[in-house]
Amino acid sequence: MKKTKTNKLIIPKSIVTVDAQERILFNHAIEIDNGIINRIAPVAEFNLDTFYGEIFRYENFTLVPGFIQTHIHLCQTLFRGLADDLELLDWLQKKIFPFENSHNKESLRISVQLGLNELIAGGTTTIVDMGTLRHQEVIFEELIKSGIRAYAGKCMIDVNDLYPEFFESKEEGIESSYQFAKEFHNKTNGKIKYAFAPRFVLSCTEKLLIETKEMMKDFPGSFFHTHASENKKEFEVVKQMHGKPNVEYFDSIGILDDRTVLAHCIHLETEEYKSLKKRNVRVSHCPSSNLKLGSGIANIPYMLKNGISVSLGADGAPCNNSLSIFKEMHLAAMIHKPIHGPTSMDAKTVFKLATIDGARALHMQNEIGSIEVGKKADLVLLNLEKSDQTLHGNEDSIYSKIVYSSNKDCVKNVFINGELVTADGICTLYDEQKLMSDGKEELRKLIGRV
Ligand code: GUN
Ligand code: FE
Repeated sequence: MKKTKTNKLIIPKSIVTVDAQERILFNHAIEIDNGIINRIAPVAEFNLDTFYGEIFRYENFTLVPGFIQTHIHLCQTLFRGLADDLELLDWLQKKIFPFENSHNKESLRISVQLGLNELIAGGTTTIVDMGTLRHQEVIFEELIKSGIRAYAGKCMIDVNDLYPEFFESKEEGIESSYQFAKEFHNKTNGKIKYAFAPRFVLSCTEKLLIETKEMMKDFPGSFFHTHASENKKEFEVVKQMHGKPNVEYFDSIGILDDRTVLAHCIHLETEEYKSLKKRNVRVSHCPSSNLKLGSGIANIPYMLKNGISVSLGADGAPCNNSLSIFKEMHLAAMIHKPIHGPTSMDAKTVFKLATIDGARALHMQNEIGSIEVGKKADLVLLNLEKSDQTLHGNEDSIYSKIVYSSNKDCVKNVFINGELVTADGICTLYDEQKLMSDGKEELRKLIGRV
């Protein structure tokens, strides 16, 4: 094959492939051509002297697939630390809806940039983002500029008893979502895809939910992304309003299928697990958000045992208060053990939730989620010695180090589609200091008005 300057060769200490055999490779190199992994072979089989392209030697580091987070709110990053220690409905009513309602284009842009900077520097290369009510185009512009892979969409709220100002009519929500989907679905070679985003049952009329599902037929490959059964009070109000619990209600109006991402799914009745399985729904588990908002603990071990699709997400910065996939992995591995026993949610299982299971949830398992020939070169290089001094070297200790001991500071380099976007732990797309000072300035202006 003709080599071009776009070729790259990466030589790490080890490669956690997450392929079907779950191989961990040592003394292997990965060749990238035009953003695609086109060869994985022992280093000795490459002629380094004649290789035409860039060679990255990382002999002390571990290469893993780019992480996938299936529930994020980039629009909320600016509000980190401003909505602590509240339960969901108070948190929305007193803080988050007023904050999101106050966003202008500039504040939204900086919020999105701050979020992307943090996600990309932390090794996340694909997200599902829930947008906000206004200025959604800003989110798309920033997603495209960053190069991250994303399902994203404007959020829809056509009833809001919590904060009536943060609202638009069903017609406005449907029409603007349709236009955004028309403009952005499958943008940038399919890197950006549309995820329709009715906020949650309590902020959506039944008509809105049903028409949204209808609208998806015009956009094959799009997703339906919403929150479900997160909070006990929310659960009870939904049951009162609709005569059934949240997931069952969604099922009864035809919302659920394998292109539905439901964030949380904590308070479920037995039959609802069956619906999740039967309809092949994608559950996004957000453990740090669930703990901080005191929402509860989703029965993830039971879901996994029953073959329900589970992946991970940090949710928004004000409910955790970070966007680190390492924190989510750590908590996902820890919080279920007191209830389900220490053998539940082992490190490898959790690592897969953040990689290949996220890819499967998004129907992208042939493109991302593992390190295999033919897949996109979304790759993360980790310095596992930084946070963990485990000395024995059996293969499973790699998963253990990543899940139980690592953190975002272990991320050294990140490639998305073969492009280096984080070098030595710093996302190269942004000037972090400037982002922070611009963010402070925007926040100062907004806080005066919220
Ligand atoms: N339910 C409705 N909106 C939200 C939100 O912004 N965050 C969370 N965690 N739950 C929600
Ligand atoms: Fe959320």
